[in-house]
Amino acid sequence: MTLLENRPADLTDPLVVHEPGPADGPWWRDAVIYQVYPRSFADGNGDGIGDLPGITARLDHLAALGVDAVWLSPFYRSPQADAGYDVADYRDVDPLFGTLEDFDALLSRAHELGLRVVVDLVPNHTSDDHVWFQEALRTPPGSPERARYLFRDGRGEHGELPPNNWQSIFGGDAWTRLTPEKHGVDDGQWYLHLFDTRQPDLDWTNPEVRAEFEDVLRFWLDRGVDGFRVDVAHGMVKAEGLPDWDGHVAMIDGAEGEGAADGEPTGVGNQGPMFDQDGVHEIYRTWRAVLDEYDGDRMLVAEAWVEPLSRLARYVRPDEMHQAFNFAFLATGWDAPALRKVVAASYAVNDSVGAPTTWVLSNHDVVRHASRLGLTDPSSRPNGIAAEDEQPDEELGLRRARAATLLLLGLPGSAYLYQGEELGLPEHTALPAEVREDPAFFRTNGVERGRDGCRVPLPWQADAPGFGYSPTGDTWLPQPASWAAYAADVQDGVPGSTLELYRAALRLRRSERLGTGGAAWEPAYADAPEVIAVRNGSVLVVANLGSVPVALPEGAEVLLASGLPGDAEVGTELPGDTTAWLRVR
Ligand code: GLC
Ligand code: CA
Repeated sequence: MTLLENRPADLTDPLVVHEPGPADGPWWRDAVIYQVYPRSFADGNGDGIGDLPGITARLDHLAALGVDAVWLSPFYRSPQADAGYDVADYRDVDPLFGTLEDFDALLSRAHELGLRVVVDLVPNHTSDDHVWFQEALRTPPGSPERARYLFRDGRGEHGELPPNNWQSIFGGDAWTRLTPEKHGVDDGQWYLHLFDTRQPDLDWTNPEVRAEFEDVLRFWLDRGVDGFRVDVAHGMVKAEGLPDWDGHVAMIDGAEGEGAADGEPTGVGNQGPMFDQDGVHEIYRTWRAVLDEYDGDRMLVAEAWVEPLSRLARYVRPDEMHQAFNFAFLATGWDAPALRKVVAASYAVNDSVGAPTTWVLSNHDVVRHASRLGLTDPSSRPNGIAAEDEQPDEELGLRRARAATLLLLGLPGSAYLYQGEELGLPEHTALPAEVREDPAFFRTNGVERGRDGCRVPLPWQADAPGFGYSPTGDTWLPQPASWAAYAADVQDGVPGSTLELYRAALRLRRSERLGTGGAAWEPAYADAPEVIAVRNGSVLVVANLGSVPVALPEGAEVLLASGLPGDAEVGTELPGDTTAWLRVR
């Protein structure tokens, strides 16, 4: 590709892909947002499962890291069939994680430290323990209680076949039939669940469902949260008539997607009748209006596995959400031409609707990027890794992960970090089947290894039981012994450690205002296929994705480089798999 492809039509300088924004815009436009996965961050009471008091006690770590906000994955009442993404009560904290008072304490401590707090909203489905689903089971077909979900009669002579051929994203049928044994019901209707059988999908054409979630938004806004991450934001509305679809349903595997523009990464989203329907946008317009009633720049970020990027941009039009996760970037892997293309396309589509671009490499649903990038194919995206699979090259993975992160943090926009990546944590790639909990593992008979390997409790102290995650040393998933080397305490204050690299990058990003800066390709590298070189103000970000060193501009001052401790200092050349930030005038 040439550097000029995919650039916005209204920019006059052919190398510019994004113009700087105002430095005094709302906080979320350039925020670095750190994802806390509550069950694995820090355990306060010693039962082996992370909790809200555990998080509160460790908020200092995040303030010292230099992030702007924390996003908390679900901590609501839930039977934990999908680690809390199966919500039984949207207005209460699960006893596993604490109480509403614990939440208020977390929020006020975070605000004291200058950290915003974003919570997770799961509107596509509830838990089957939710009072609505229980009521639906107690009332006959056609009742208003059933109409909150997608109950249908089956096909076949006796309704013995599912209403359509949709597959669950976790594997197996997307429909479950009611039975006297399991549900105490003998009418034989089926209900839709795009995910686990314990996660029935809501019917978003029902005004009662819409009213309920507006009220849930207000409940948390009134408590003082700064925003919401909206789960499966592309899935809530289904095509009318729920037509059959033969396509492949997946969020996180590398399957080829359809409909992407030439050269755009594919396999990040779905085009089926259950995804990305026009009707979802009306919901977000309503929610935006609710948020706009509140002061303090509250925000919405979409989890929408949608492609191409121009479809994703529709979620962040001025009267809808504020941001959407950029999964196209996450999915691109270690491929300079492809990454340049995604970077340019990301700015083009987001700028066209006035939204900030976001960047993300890891979260609780994907193999950690320090491990993905150490695979023989560093652009592959397996759904989990087990001991019998190819094991990533840990050192190469870490080297590339640090380089990838330094590229990401040098780009204007908003950045999402996943807990533990600031320690350079690899995936747990050898979890035994007996300890796995991800429903995707069970629903595919282990073919999909699932997401447990990126959800292992964090190592805080190298020499404490459970690496200091829990006062008793208990951890709900085992930690690899090799994680002693990654513990926060052994990296704290150590020059060149991954933790200090993140801190330095976040400090510089703030002082140089990189988040609200502009982005222009550096012409000196126009002919270097393995290099991504972006000029952002007086900082030049140069990432060398190849294995051969490349020359750096003469006289450039190196502000920060991603090389591993023990690497020679970056001078006139940038080694392979390394990113540097340079001062240029
Ligand atoms: C989202 C969450 C994922 C969850 C799924 C169902 O993709 O990130 O963890 O399993 O939705 O709620
Ligand atoms: Ca606990």
